[in-house]
Amino acid sequence: MTSVITNPRILLLGGHGKVALAMTPRLLAKGWSVTSVVRNPEHEADIRATAPSPKGTLDVLVSSLDEISTQEDANQIIARVKPHWLIWSAGAGGKGGAVRTNQIDHLAAVAFIRAAAASANVTTFLMVSAFNSRRSRPSWWTDEDWESIVHMNTVTMPDYYRAKIAADEVLTAVAQKRDRSSTMPPMRSVVLRPGWLTDDEPTGKIQLGKTKGTGKVPRADVAETAVRLLEAVQRGWDGGWVDLLSGENDIDSEIGRVVNANENSIDGENLQDIFTKA
Ligand SMILES: NC(=O)c1ccc[n+]([C@@H]2O[C@H](COP(=O)([O-])OP(=O)(O)OC[C@H]3O[C@@H](n4cnc5c(N)ncnc54)[C@H](OP(=O)(O)O)[C@@H]3O)[C@@H](O)[C@H]2O)c1
Repeated sequence: MTSVITNPRILLLGGHGKVALAMTPRLLAKGWSVTSVVRNPEHEADIRATAPSPKGTLDVLVSSLDEISTQEDANQIIARVKPHWLIWSAGAGGKGGAVRTNQIDHLAAVAFIRAAAASANVTTFLMVSAFNSRRSRPSWWTDEDWESIVHMNTVTMPDYYRAKIAADEVLTAVAQKRDRSSTMPPMRSVVLRPGWLTDDEPTGKIQLGKTKGTGKVPRADVAETAVRLLEAVQRGWDGGWVDLLSGENDIDSEIGRVVNANENSIDGENLQDIFTKA
């Protein structure tokens, strides 16, 4: 049983990203503390501007993910901030080619995942992943959906796919290992997998979990859903993979449905293989 942390300290990686900027005021409004990690010191003002009178404490830490390749590298930041929760919302964004995508979306992400899993203080890790990050065809998608994802993963964005799936699988594996540990408390992993991101106004209406195979979602709805999923973890949800698109239902009712049905978009993936990646 995870002990409930009511006022967690959160390490937010990719703090100046668009999703992270939408998350920051929402996290702080809960009274939670946020350390937002950016590479450019000039970005601090933008981050503070999202929450002029924050309920929780906001810190900004300047550090480049270009310098984080190993668990030891990431651990220096975790040891300094001592977070209870980590949120990964960074990404190379397709800029800088395969090398940079591998450095940020794979090496730095996995470094933080492993360092978090090695820290008993960290009880939750939320990864902003993507709906194309999976190896096997979900039974609830159409053939056309799957063909378009295979095309994306093998032709259009293979480097991004390889990086995202590697990080998602390591996170899933290390969380399972923590569950089985007799010396460490569980670390819940939430792999939040939005479709195409837009800057549209939030609607508060989503499809979550085993969604249809293609679609969009505003970044602000991703941010709000992430915060509500963290609250679901506080209430005892074990986490899992959840796909996210714009939809017809309120965020809370979709989360309630997914949690009650124990719905997990990881279904169809090879769990035995994933668990070897811890
Ligand atoms: N685009 C889509 O349609 C889509 C769909 C599904 C999932 N996603 C995923 O959703 C997540 C969030 O998306 P978003 O739109 O918020 O992305 P974003 O605005 O591009 O944010 C990514 C953040 O990562 C930071 N970053 C990149 N390299 C860094 C480095 N070396 N050191 C420190 N920070 C670094 C960037 O910093 P700077 O501000 O300094 O550049 C940026 O703030 C990403 O992981 C993305 O892969 C995207």
